[in-house]
Amino acid sequence: MDAQPNSPEARDIRYHLHAYTNARKHQETGPLVIEKGDGIYVEDIAGNRYIEAMAGLWSVAVGFSEKRLVEAATRQMSKLPFYHDFGSKAHSPLIDLAEKLVQMAPVPMSKAYFTNSGSEANDTALKMIWYRSNALGQPARKKIISRKRGYHGVTIAAASLTGLPNNHLSFDLPIANVLHTSTPHHWRDARPGESEEQFSSRLADELESLILAEGPETIAAFFGEPIMGAGGVVVPPAFYWEKVQAVLTKYDILLVADEVICGFGRTGEMFGSHAFGIKPDVMVLSKQISSSYLPISALLINDKVFEPIADESNRIGTFGHGFTGGGHPVAAAVALENVKLIEERDLVGNARRVGAHLQARLRKLASHPLVGEVRGVGLIAAVELVADKASKAPWGKPAALGALVNGLLQQNGVISRNMGDAIAFCPPLIITEPQVDTLVDAFERSLDAALPQVHAQG
Ligand SMILES: Cc1ncc(COP(=O)(O)O)c(C=O)c1O
Repeated sequence: MDAQPNSPEARDIRYHLHAYTNARKHQETGPLVIEKGDGIYVEDIAGNRYIEAMAGLWSVAVGFSEKRLVEAATRQMSKLPFYHDFGSKAHSPLIDLAEKLVQMAPVPMSKAYFTNSGSEANDTALKMIWYRSNALGQPARKKIISRKRGYHGVTIAAASLTGLPNNHLSFDLPIANVLHTSTPHHWRDARPGESEEQFSSRLADELESLILAEGPETIAAFFGEPIMGAGGVVVPPAFYWEKVQAVLTKYDILLVADEVICGFGRTGEMFGSHAFGIKPDVMVLSKQISSSYLPISALLINDKVFEPIADESNRIGTFGHGFTGGGHPVAAAVALENVKLIEERDLVGNARRVGAHLQARLRKLASHPLVGEVRGVGLIAAVELVADKASKAPWGKPAALGALVNGLLQQNGVISRNMGDAIAFCPPLIITEPQVDTLVDAFERSLDAALPQVHAQG
């Protein structure tokens, strides 16, 4: 790119290594520098306005200009800018938030524990589960099952739970004791003629075979997102969670629901666990908990998890785990206000109503020559692109078509993200029906603009 030597773009290239970016390519293309936000929109430094159709990173439920969150942060910052929960210390925002989250949970939960990111929360969940196995005198029970294409973050344990190659390659991951079972993606992986229910049964059988092969007494927990997000918005097929949970219950294996994306209304229910009848032992919460205005994450654990941990901490003398910023008072105050806003404004209902409109509009594109599958629930969706509908074959290299359409979409004023060839949509929960129409119209124009290129290059 030919940026001015001291422009923000040039300085970004000079000084900044980006997350999830091809660092060499970035030196040529440079960044898109976002300057400000307003409702569902963000604006770059050149003054171009975009619909933020990913809510940032699946996370800005209340939009990009919510004054009440700014005020909540300011109030708390002036009163008590920092405190922690080590050694029995506490502060009001943390107590209030713990109480609120435990009361909101879809199943009886015992305690909330606070961390700063989804990755930290998943790492913490895994450590708690290992600690619990030792507390129960079951030191062999350490293996964790997660899923191919599942996403649980990037720290060493969380990246190991994640089932995506880019999070393992050259990082020497996954670590030992993490096993990956199949992705519940019916459209891509079902056998010819296999119904959703039959496919779910086959995956549950596969899970049971894996457990039996490894030894049920060695399996501690199963981690899963109610809907897989970063793996391409994979909506579970009918009866999937019911059948998986039956297997886990049979072998006394804990279930961790990673609600980092689904939590706080995304699916049109407060939690993904409500939407799919999931009864987790541990829930992992982040992102929409504070609309990402400040980093905060939390785990909810039930008594089955808490009681042995309490005993073990008593035996050792402490629960030797904690983060300086865990349950930060300013982040906790913002999270509380954010959850209040989600409830007050019925953003869960909005996700259900406007989500139904988004899903219907996207499904009308199913007959487009480049569309393989449209999937989603509430205000989370993906459109998987193919060059050949019958064989589901990609256009040249996988992700090439996704990147092409995603680039065109940005030119048309919408920021989305392609996960391979799946274009994701996960807008702020405040989005309205006319705004959905603008978004989907722009997507349709982008698909049409890609078509001649796809035909020309075969
Ligand atoms: C389901 C899920 N779990 C965990 C994470 C990791 O969260 P963080 O990026 O805050 O570490 C993400 C992030 O996208 C996620 O989608």
